[in-house]
Amino acid sequence: MPLQDDDEICFCFHVKLRKIRSFCRIEQPKVASQISECLSAGTGCGWCRPMLRKIHQQECQVEEPWWRKIKDDEVDYHSTEREAEAAAVEHSDYAAGRQKYLKETGRTPPADGAR
Ligand code: FES
Repeated sequence: MPLQDDDEICFCFHVKLRKIRSFCRIEQPKVASQISECLSAGTGCGWCRPMLRKIHQQECQVEEPWWRKIKDDEVDYHSTEREAEAAAVEHSDYAAGRQKYLKETGRTPPADGAR
């Protein structure tokens, strides 16, 4: 089953797909990086940033100018789960991909109680 509204997209800050979609519909952020204003989504380990950009494109139907795109991290990390559309990835695969990402990149979630 593809990602559902109650599935977490940003594990670091426990931000669900529904919250991100609502934020995009209501606030109409001009660039995907503004989604960080929604409960800090995307500001932790960085795993969810490609998904946030895809959701932003879908919900706001804007193409970010090349000079505003979020840098994907210092680490050039690619995986099927990370680059999938929300409708094309199982939540368990998305979550497992993030665990692999943390292990392989050495990145860590924020220490302030988020995971
Ligand atoms: S999962 Fe979103 S920043 Fe870590």
